[in-house]
Amino acid sequence: MIYPIVMYGDAVLRKRASEIVKGTDLKDLIADMFETMHAAHGIGLAAPQIGKSIRLFVVDGTTLEDEPTLKDFKKIFVNPKILGETGTEWEFEEGCLSIPNIREEVARKERLRINYYDENWNEFEEEFTGMKARIIQHEYDHIEGKLFIDYLTPLKKRMLKGKLADISKGDVEIDYRIAAPLRK
Ligand code: NI
Repeated sequence: MIYPIVMYGDAVLRKRASEIVKGTDLKDLIADMFETMHAAHGIGLAAPQIGKSIRLFVVDGTTLEDEPTLKDFKKIFVNPKILGETGTEWEFEEGCLSIPNIREEVARKERLRINYYDENWNEFEEEFTGMKARIIQHEYDHIEGKLFIDYLTPLKKRMLKGKLADISKGDVEIDYRIAAPLRK
């Protein structure tokens, strides 16, 4: 099942998502999240983006031909906890399915250590670097109620105000289903 993707301006994107009870069967939801993400040509999707305020996100960079480091990067993160971020900050242009048609440079640390569960409640602790780390940091921010535009300078934010208002109203050119909070 493909969910509509929640647009910027919806309160669910600003809430710290809740921990999922261990043992919960997430298989159908996870399958739907991958389906929804693929339909929108995204490489990451967090549960709040389909209106569910729970600590879960999926990533799939395997379709990005120009990013060979991501060729086996298809993963599920349940109740993730970033244990530490290290290395030099590097900038890269990010986008977000909940903030369509806006791309901006965001600086993030190059390496992270994370504890998480998979869909079968197996626990992992792993280190990720570079683009993998960046995708995880972006999605992890979603379950903390944070968005990539929060990192922009006040001037940049002011310049995007009109576009963001349009997104909240669902006034965007996009080829996937959306749920806009201020759509009339
Ligand atoms: Ni996003």
